[in-house]
Formats: sequence, structure tokens, C-alpha cells
Amino acid sequence: MSASMRTLLLLPLMACVPSEPLAPWKVEMLRTEFSMDGVEVPPARDNAWGDDPLAIELGRCLFHDTRLSEPVEGIDPVSCNTCHDIEHGGADPRGTPTSLMASGGYSSRQSPSLYNGAWRGTGVGWNWEGSKSEMWRQIQGPLQGHPHNSDPLEVSQRVLTFHGEQYEATFGAPPVLPAGPYEELSAAEDLVVMSVFDNVAKSLEAYSRTLVSQDSAFDRAVNGEPEAMSSAAWRGADVFIGDGFCNECHRGPAFSDQTLHNIGVSQANGPLVPSVDPGQGVFLTPGLRGVSRTAPYMHNGSVDSLWDVLEFYRFGGHASGYVGESEIRELHLTDEQLADLEAFLNALDGAPLMADHITGKGCP
Ligand code: HEC
Ligand code: HEC
Repeated sequence: MSASMRTLLLLPLMACVPSEPLAPWKVEMLRTEFSMDGVEVPPARDNAWGDDPLAIELGRCLFHDTRLSEPVEGIDPVSCNTCHDIEHGGADPRGTPTSLMASGGYSSRQSPSLYNGAWRGTGVGWNWEGSKSEMWRQIQGPLQGHPHNSDPLEVSQRVLTFHGEQYEATFGAPPVLPAGPYEELSAAEDLVVMSVFDNVAKSLEAYSRTLVSQDSAFDRAVNGEPEAMSSAAWRGADVFIGDGFCNECHRGPAFSDQTLHNIGVSQANGPLVPSVDPGQGVFLTPGLRGVSRTAPYMHNGSVDSLWDVLEFYRFGGHASGYVGESEIRELHLTDEQLADLEAFLNALDGAPLMADHITGKGCP
């Protein structure tokens, strides 16, 4: 057989050889437990517009609009995207110590990634404590408080001023809003404002639900393209479900069990973060898809890099300064295993969304 013929015969074979084969049952376990292929986005809770195309489009425009916040001299107005920067996995890369708000103060918590936030609906709920049982109710928090330095009436007025046509096309003709100020409205007037303000938040939820991180190197690798992941990432996958015990909490297609755990994260992160978080040390497991883009990490942004997160786990959490009782223990992992885990986490980056979809391009 000539050398060129041998190459021809070998090529298709080589393409099928995984970079680092795991036992077939492990690959199958990874696929059934974590793959996004063919998985449907969970339904919205109490939001009939959750998947409505017009609401999604209105939500996209509102998400990127800094005009919804009340300007304060010397401070940049914010949009949702300021704190949930979609290019950074929907988290806040400013990070130090936590997000600057339109009112000039700092948020006491780090912005969670918005990617795959729809999967929160399969568990206790939204935000680091899981205390909001609908996504749109969580969204109303920053809209009417310090983050946007605004109230429901001001936000509703601005939405109807800048996005009136889009609003009407989506929800029908809006009511006439009372004059305000908001604090002086009667209960009946408040109901009128809320009918608009609820729709605003529901359209923002509709848009946020489209931020799905999928089609990662990992998904391709466990669905018949093993070479899509490096050997290091395959070994990391093995540590993730093996010696690292990571899948005890980071499991399911979004890599979160959507429940609350205490893993011993120290509260210390500068004077602006409270010494005791109302969460009392217990927080929702974050999803891990796209996690390479969402530094800094943890509810208070206290861990700077993925490597530092992995060292944190190796040492079994922070030695002191955390509240309550931690559920994790010291892990006996080598530096190589940590590097493999890091390679695996990097392989969870999803395919980028359409460029137009992650900006306010073309919006009024
Ligand atoms: C000043 C920064 C800031 C702004 C502006 C902001 N957020 Fe957030 N967002 C946060 C923080 C911090 C949390 C976590 C809150 C908590 O745990 O109490 C959060 C939580 C969320 C969550 C829950 C995520 C989850 O998986 O639990 C959603 C959804 C969300 N924000 C959407 C939005 C939308 C939409 C807007 C625009 C109206 C917005 N946010 C504006 C900082 C911000
Ligand atoms: C007992 C449950 C549990 C186990 C086991 C666990 N995690 Fe976590 N993980 C969490 C929780 C809860 C948080 C958020 C804690 C906080 O912010 O205070 C978190 C945070 C993270 C973060 C930061 C994400 C972000 O967006 O800030 C990464 C990365 C991470 N875990 C990876 C891992 C890896 C890798 C392993 C295995 C070595 C692991 N986790 C094991 C529950 C767990």
C-alpha cells in the first residue's frame, strides 16, 4: 500500500479518535446529565409574554437603554447591560468591589450571569438567595431602586416616551399615567402604573430568557465530536464528576442544581460589602456555562479568577470570615487536576449569540 493511500485510510479513523477517551459510560453520563442538545428552555413563571417575539424585541431595546435611569451629576447612567454585560456572560466585569449604581452607591452583591437564567425557574427562584419566585419580579428590583435611581412611575413614563410604539404593538394601547410623584399616588393610581411597570419587566424577562449559552465545545464533544474538547478538558470533565465532586451541586444542562448551599465564601471584600450578607452564607448554585467570561466570582465578587476559585475548592473554602456551616471539604487535587478542571470550565463557553441580539442596535 502506498503511503498516500495509507493516509487516506487513516484519516477518517483518526477523526473519530477522542483526544482523551473516557469510559463510554462516563461520556454517556456527561451527555445525559449536562448536554444542552435538544433541551427546551423551561417555561416562564407567571409571564404570558415570556416567549413573545415582540416582547423579546422590546426587552432587547430596554435592556440596553441607559435613559431608563435617572441621571445623577458626575455618575454615568446605567442600563441592565452595565451590570449584566452580555459580552461578559451577562455579569459585571467592573467587579471591584461590586457594581456601581446610577444613584452613586455600590451594590452589595456581584451581578450574577444572566445566561441560562430561565433554568432558575426549575428550582427555588431568582437572585443569589433565590428569594424571587418570578424572574420579572427580580427585574423590578433594580428598575425601581438605587441601581437605576428610579421609581415605577418614572420608568413607565420613560418607556412610553422612548419606546411607546413598540410597547403598544406588544401589549396594546397603554393607560394614561398619573402625574406623580410616585410616593403620593393613590392605590388606584398605583395600580395603573403597575399595569405598565409589570409589562416592562415581563418584556425584559422575555429578552433575558433568550440569553441561552449552548453549543459549547463540551456539547459537541459528548454528542459525537470528541475532538471538540482538548485532552486536558476531557480529563477535567472526569475530575468534575469524580475527585472534585463538583456535580453534587453543579448539575443539569445549566450546571446548577438550582438550590441553595453554603460553600464557605468569606464575606470580606472591602468596606462596601456588608460583613454579614442577608443570605447568611447560603446562596444559589451559579450555572457554569460561559463562566470563563464572568469574573470576578461568587456572590460578593471576592474571588478574582477561575484558578483562584479552583484553589478555593481545593482548600475546602475560605479558612475564616464566612457565616454558618460550609458543606464542602478539602479536596486532594494536584495542580494538574486543577489545570484540567480549568480547561474543562473553559470548554463550557457557548457559541456567541447573533451580534445584533446582544446590543441595542436599531432601537429607538
Ligand atoms: C447596579 C447593577 C445592576 C443593574 C443596573 C441591574 N442588575 Fe440585575 N442583578 C444585579 C445584582 C447584584 C443581582 C443579584 C441580586 C441579589 O442577589 O440580591 C442581580 C440579579 C438579576 C437577575 C437574577 C439572576 C439569577 O439568575 O438569579 C436577573 C434576571 C437580573 N438581575 C436582570 C436584570 C435586568 C433585566 C436589569 C435591567 C432592568 C438589571 N438586572 C439591572 C445587578 C444589577
Ligand atoms: C455543595 C455544593 C457545591 C459544590 C460541591 C461545588 N460548588 Fe461551585 N458553587 C456552589 C455555590 C453555592 C456557589 C456560589 C457561592 C457564593 O457565591 O457564595 C459556587 C460557585 C462556583 C463558581 C463561581 C461561579 C460564579 O459565577 O461566581 C465556580 C466557577 C464553581 N462554583 C465551580 C465549582 C467546581 C469546579 C466545583 C468542584 C471542584 C464546585 N464548584 C463544587 C456550590 C457548589
